[in-house]
Formats: sequence, structure tokens, C-alpha cells
Amino acid sequence: MSGIGMHIITYKELRLKNEFVPLMDQAFSWPFNPQKREKIIKIDPRLKDSPVGYCAVENNQVVGFVGVMDLATRTLDGSIELAGGIHGVATLPNHARKGISTTLIQRAHQYFQEQGYRFSFLNTSKYLIAFAYYQKLGYKIAIEFPSAYKILQKTNESKTAENGKKRLDWEKILEIYNQCSAKKTGFVVRDKGYFKMLEKSGDIQPETSIITKMGYVFLKERKETILVQEIISPTIDEANKLIDEVEKKAQTIVIDRVVLDNKIFQAYQSRGYMVLNRSYGVLMVKPLRKSATFQQVYGDKFYRSEADDF
Ligand SMILES: CC(C)(COP(=O)(O)OP(=O)(O)OC[C@H]1O[C@@H](n2cnc3c(N)ncnc32)[C@H](O)[C@@H]1OP(=O)(O)O)[C@@H](O)C(=O)NCCC(=O)NCCS
Repeated sequence: MSGIGMHIITYKELRLKNEFVPLMDQAFSWPFNPQKREKIIKIDPRLKDSPVGYCAVENNQVVGFVGVMDLATRTLDGSIELAGGIHGVATLPNHARKGISTTLIQRAHQYFQEQGYRFSFLNTSKYLIAFAYYQKLGYKIAIEFPSAYKILQKTNESKTAENGKKRLDWEKILEIYNQCSAKKTGFVVRDKGYFKMLEKSGDIQPETSIITKMGYVFLKERKETILVQEIISPTIDEANKLIDEVEKKAQTIVIDRVVLDNKIFQAYQSRGYMVLNRSYGVLMVKPLRKSATFQQVYGDKFYRSEADDF
């Protein structure tokens, strides 16, 4: 990393987080809110015990950032294993191409190695410059995300009014989630706190959630589009019932960008959704030790939903 006086500190050590507003807006069009972020960090099991990330500071200005997370994963043999997660990789435009990101990612890998993690994961898109850069650093595509889209022909556009703040039964939701994900590997290790964090960060909106005896759906409304954040069901029949309810709530378009459960994929397909197997968005993985490959540790059952994005 070039630049006189440039140094690295952790996000937790950084006193004023305001400079993250332009940094995150430039990189991700993310309306970053330092106070809100602070609250989420305290309750997100992936962040609360980590340094949160590494900041490159020059002349008292944050010029680059690489976030780190501790990700609980389930492996093929059923055990829980922590892995590293990289997020929020960003350098200010006038400091780009000076090796800042490379230095920060090396620091992140060092943290993961100190923790004894075997893998580092990150989410990116094949159409970003960063994709080739991550490949150069040893990252490979772990999984792509099948997706489903439907345009609804609604005659009556009036939406059922949602009244008041709905309280969700986290106990029941967790039970359904654990039952349905029991045979899966990947980002399937959750507790009630994880769901509450998702609610606080706005990734789960209780008012639009649908819960049945055996399954549930979390939705996000964006203008006239419904984005499925997570749909969990033990059977195709139940998935169909849930999608029925989703379509009742939706104004015109339903989108599910991460459909890694075969039953759900089949349900969408049978209902005439436009489905894709490949995606630009990908989960990438880099082994931090030579001893094990992603395939050996997680097989082909790796699962995550849109609600596990980072
Ligand atoms: C991706 C990003 C973080 C790189 O930050 P950086 O500090 O400029 O990175 P580095 O200087 O360490 O460059 C690392 C490598 O990335 C690649 N790279 C970076 N910018 C590039 C560009 N404009 N064109 C082509 N390759 C580029 C190069 O391979 C480079 O290595 P090299 O300079 O030795 O050829 C920065 O461009 C950025 O903030 N982009 C917007 C946000 C983003 O896309 N983040 C990643 C989301 S997953």
C-alpha cells in the first residue's frame, strides 16, 4: 500500500464513522447510517465479536474499507464450523488502484487465519471489476443463485391493508427453519437473535410475512415489486400454498433471487414463473489452508437465502 502516513485500524477502533457515508454510497449506492449500523453490529452474531472490518486511514480520512464477519456454517458431517466473511469492500475513487484494497484483504485473511478458519467467503457479481480481482486472490465461485420471476395480471390492484405492527413468533419460525434446513450445509446455523437482527435491519418486515403451520415467507416490498427474502417449506404443496399467499399480496411483480431449495424451485416452475439456473451474483470461496476443499467440506447441499446476504 503506497502513501505516506497511511495506516490500518479496525472499524471498532475508528471513532467517527461518518466518513463511511460517502465511501459506501460511492461503492454500493448504500445509504449508510452510522448510528443504525452500530445498533446492528451489537446484535448481529456475525459481527458482534469481530473487528467488523479494517479501515485504511490517510490524513485522518478513511480512504478504504474491507469488512470481516465470523460466519457460522454447517458442514457435511453436521458439525458447526466458523468461517470468514468479507463484505463492504470499498476504496474512495481518488485513492483507487494504489493497492489499498489488496492490503486490507490481506489483513482480513490474516484475521481469519488467526481465528483458525478454513475458508473465506464473499458475495459479489461477475459483472463487477472486483470479480476478476477476487479470482486473482484465489477466490472461486462456490455457488450461483437460481432465481424466479413472475408478472401478475391483476385486475383489481387494491392491496389488502396491513394494519398495525405484527409480532412474529420467533420460536415457531426458528423451529420451522431448523426442521427444513436440517439436511443442508452452509449458512443454516441460526438462533432467535439472528431473526431479530434481520427484523431490526429491515431485511424482515413482520407486516408482510406469511406464516403457516409448516412454512413461512419473508417479503420485502419495493414499489410494486415483491422481493422474496426467504421462503421455507417442507413440501412442494406447502410451498405452493405460501406462494399463493405471496401472489395475493403482490401488486404486479414477484422476484426471488436466491432459490437454492429444489422444492421451492419446482413450485415456482410449476406455477409458470420465469426461472434461471445461472446468475451474475455469486458466492465465492477461498480456502485458507491446503487441507480441505469447499466441495469436501460442504458438498452440493450448501444453502443460503437472500436473508443471509452480507
Ligand atoms: C474493487 C475496489 C474495492 C478495488 O479497490 P482498490 O483499492 O483500487 O484495489 P487495488 O488497488 O488493491 O487493486 C487490486 C486489483 O483490482 C483490479 N482492479 C482494481 N481497479 C481496477 C480497474 N479500474 N480496472 C481493472 N482492474 C482493476 C486490478 O487487478 C488490481 O490489481 P493491479 O492494480 O495490481 O492490477 C474498488 O474499485 C471499489 O471500491 N469499487 C467499488 C465497490 C466494489 O465494487 N466493491 C466490491 C464489491 S464485491
